[in-house]
Formats: sequence, C-alpha cells, structure tokens
Amino acid sequence: MYDSEVAEIWDTIYRGRGRDYAAEARSVAEVIRERHPDAGSLLDVACGTGEHLRHFDDLFDHVEGLELSGDMIEAGRGRSPWLTMHQADMRSFALGRRFDAITCLFSSIGHAHGTAELDATLARFAAHLNPGGVVVVEPWWFPETFADGYVTGDVVRTEGRVIGRVSHSRREGAASRVSAHFTVADADTGLRHFTEDLLISLFTREQYEDAFRRAGGTVELLDGGPSGRGLFVGVWR
Ligand SMILES: C[S@@+](CC[C@H](N)C(=O)[O-])C[C@H]1O[C@@H](n2cnc3c(N)ncnc32)[C@H](O)[C@@H]1O
Repeated sequence: MYDSEVAEIWDTIYRGRGRDYAAEARSVAEVIRERHPDAGSLLDVACGTGEHLRHFDDLFDHVEGLELSGDMIEAGRGRSPWLTMHQADMRSFALGRRFDAITCLFSSIGHAHGTAELDATLARFAAHLNPGGVVVVEPWWFPETFADGYVTGDVVRTEGRVIGRVSHSRREGAASRVSAHFTVADADTGLRHFTEDLLISLFTREQYEDAFRRAGGTVELLDGGPSGRGLFVGVWR
C-alpha cells in the first residue's frame, strides 16, 4: 500500500484526474468555520503528501498532519518542508495537543477495518479536540452505492512524463478491494510498472453516524463534498 512508487506520483495523478486541492481545502474550511467561526488550529489525519495541509496552512493559524506511510510523508516533505507531518496511525495516535478541527479526507477513513477500528479512530479524534471542535470525515462509498466491478483509467501527461493508471474494484465482504496498475514513461529513466492493492471498508451511513455519536459528537451528512461522496461533520460541544 502507499509505498514510495505510489507516493512519488500521487499528486500528479490526482491533479491530472481533476482534483483541486486548494478549492477542496477552502470548501472544507468553510464547513468548519460555519460551525466554529474562531477555529484556529487543524489536524489533517491520513494527510497523504500534505496537499490539503499546504492550503489549510493559508487558512488556519496552526496546522499539522498525521499519516501512516513514511513514503507519503517523505514525498510531501520534498515539496512542503515547512509542514509538520507526524508518522502515526489514526486508530491509536496520541500527539499530546488538541485542535479546533480535525479532517480526514479522500475516504482515508476506509482504512479503518471493522466498526471497532472506526470507533477507535473517532475516539482518537475526540481526544485531540478542543471544546467546540469540529470533525470532518469524507466517507468512502456506502455498501448500497458501491459499484461492484467498477473499472476506470486515466493517462496523465506532464513535462517529460506520461503516467497511466487503470483500476478494478470489487466487493470483498464488508469492504472493497481496489486494485490499480500504474505505468510510468519517464524521459530520463524510461518505463516502469507497479501495482497497488487496497482493502477499503464499506461502512454504512449508520455505522459512521454511530461512531461519531459514541465518541461524543453530533453528526450530520452533507451532500456533495470534494468527491461527491458527501461529508460527515460533527461538533464536540
Ligand atoms: C486515499 S489516500 C488520501 C491522502 C490524502 N488525504 C489526499 O487527499 O490526497 C489515504 C491515505 O491514508 C493513509 N492511511 C492508511 N491507513 C492509515 C492509518 N491507519 N493511519 C493514518 N493514515 C493512514 C495512507 O497512507 C494514504 O496516504
């Protein structure tokens, strides 16, 4: 999962697929400020290469990221060395400080496997929130909205490079198995090919909502969100 080869091309692929991290960060910040106008600090959990974090940094006084993959952090540090990114597990982290907002975007929450891990993750978020704090979680598909057998592909061109990604997703019990093959043609280093295989949980809407409530928060599901899969938003009064 998320090893150095994927980390190195992550931003190029997803920008090439039309993601606008700056716009996503602005719209998530708006959702937070509608519920906590004075929010000054933010933790982005499963921050990947820190692309949202870079833009949150312009919108909040203090931001930090947390990410399991050292390769993703390293790739991000190359671009944004000033960002604080902790290598830690969202299901068990303890940073010793609290934040006004915690985000977990691009369906990273699906890397919690089973409701016990989902509960543990939300409990960790709650333990790192100041009073009135806001949590924003972008879910993965629900079991009934997941398209079993979904295939997709993209070719992204940059200066001296072409990157191809094709993927196949299938249902595996209460999760989805997302397998992707990448081919990179690089002007300097030539051709290479590698694969990625991820198990991403298909939690139900109720399982997400129960996890927020069990951790002591309110919860609402907003339509749309960065990827069209909605946004769960909770406040810890
Ligand atoms: C779909 S990517 C999203 C990255 C980033 N948030 C973005 O929007 O580009 C999921 C990220 O979750 C990270 N991840 C997976 N399991 C994790 C865990 N248990 N704790 C923290 N991060 C985790 C992966 O390494 C990966 O960077």
